Amino acid sequence: MALQVLSIGRAHSKELGPTSSKALSHIPGEDGWPIVGNTLKALADPKGFVERMVERHGLVVRGHTFGQANVSLLGPDANELVLLDSQKLFSSGLGWGSILDLLFPRGLMLLDFDEHRLHRRALAVAFKSGPMQAYLGELNAGIVAGLARWPRRREFKFYPAIKQLTLDLAATSFLGEELGPELDKVKRAFIDMVAASIAVIRKPLPGTQMRRGTRGRAFIVEYFARQIPRRRARGGQDLFSRLCHLTWEDGSLLSNEQIVDHMSFLMMAAHDTLTSSLTSFVYRLATHPAWQEEVQRELRGFGLAPGEPLPFERLDDFVTTEAAFKEAMRLTPPVPSIPRRAVRDFEFKGFRIPAGTNVNVNPLFTHYMPEVWPEPDRYDPTRFGTAASRGRHKFAFVPFGGGAHMCLGLNFSHMQAKCFAWHFFNRFRVSMAKDYRPSWSMWPIPYPRDGLKVTLDAV
Ligand code: HEM
Repeated sequence: MALQVLSIGRAHSKELGPTSSKALSHIPGEDGWPIVGNTLKALADPKGFVERMVERHGLVVRGHTFGQANVSLLGPDANELVLLDSQKLFSSGLGWGSILDLLFPRGLMLLDFDEHRLHRRALAVAFKSGPMQAYLGELNAGIVAGLARWPRRREFKFYPAIKQLTLDLAATSFLGEELGPELDKVKRAFIDMVAASIAVIRKPLPGTQMRRGTRGRAFIVEYFARQIPRRRARGGQDLFSRLCHLTWEDGSLLSNEQIVDHMSFLMMAAHDTLTSSLTSFVYRLATHPAWQEEVQRELRGFGLAPGEPLPFERLDDFVTTEAAFKEAMRLTPPVPSIPRRAVRDFEFKGFRIPAGTNVNVNPLFTHYMPEVWPEPDRYDPTRFGTAASRGRHKFAFVPFGGGAHMCLGLNFSHMQAKCFAWHFFNRFRVSMAKDYRPSWSMWPIPYPRDGLKVTLDAV
């Protein structure tokens, strides 16, 4: 029964090709240069580009990027329409497919409607409170061990260091400790897959990143499949072992293929987003020392010794720290734009938009709208206090998306950010050279181009 629903959902969404610019000519916008369209302008300055389009054309804008016509629907109302998708108008699979299909096929974000609901319900079990407590144990140990290796009292690059730490943490909390000598190969394969998913050359030609990515996937598929019977036999607290024991509603286990696809997708979804958000978090607190002290004051108030594992029960006590983390993600959302494809005709703000249209919503643009966020460029965690949040549109702050596809790792991300903050800010004061202004690339996932040079001193 369940499998029947799955195949119907998939077949339906695969049939719908993208709409041409001609069919969208009634929508205000710009097609840009022949062939490349607006791609280069959008890549060079994603935020400025969308803001200029809105200034000229309004909140519904036609464009042409990455070889396809599309319509950007902008602002909180648009986010609500597309992400909440109460009328089931938008396919996530067809939106993300061109980016992720080759390397992360059939991950949760690539499934739609009934099929998606069934898979999400099965996976959600691995993110309930019991499993989360076990992951926190691994995060505590991994963060303490990782931070011990970071240099003190001299400048170093934060971004590569946190990227490595996030990967090491994923290896333990997602895969478990017992990977043995193959651990490095798994990490390498995984890095190649992630890099390939955003590579410009989309065919696995010799020497390309895409070739390395598809080879990495072949290894990961073989490796995970080999591990599944072992994990089923002995159990385990890590995410992978839990996936090996997940069941459908009728009690049958997920197939090997499903476990491999979900597992690699989860690792991809977690890795660069956590790296990006923790980097912008530390960057904002390094440039706002008064807020860094506020966070440190909050942590001291917990009455725990620095280096002690953060207990699961204390996660709700991070009020200032959580606001500081959210404000960093407002200014630098790890997923700046979210794609979909309309599966039926619909209307928005007076425009009729046909089925097949590639649609996107834009957290980056929304997070800087001055009518929602006064003085949008200012870093101000008080925006997330109870009083300041009252009355704000529910879809004005969307770093984790919303609706049916809302990030399944939201609580995990907050937990990792808090655990990191607990061990990091309790022990270190982070600073940057005076007059240092790192430049950020906002695409595809925000990162500081020069790695973000910081210095750590003992508190
Ligand atoms: C700060 C860190 C993170 C951010 C900002 C983030 C952001 C997002 C966003 C915006 C989406 C929705 C995309 C869409 O609607 O098309 C999403 C989906 C998802 N994320 Fe995250 N993510 C983060 C970390 C994680 C982590 C740590 C995990 C896993 C442990 C994870 C797993 C997922 C999954 C499985 C989905 C697909 C959900 C679905 O389609 O039902 N994410 N994430």
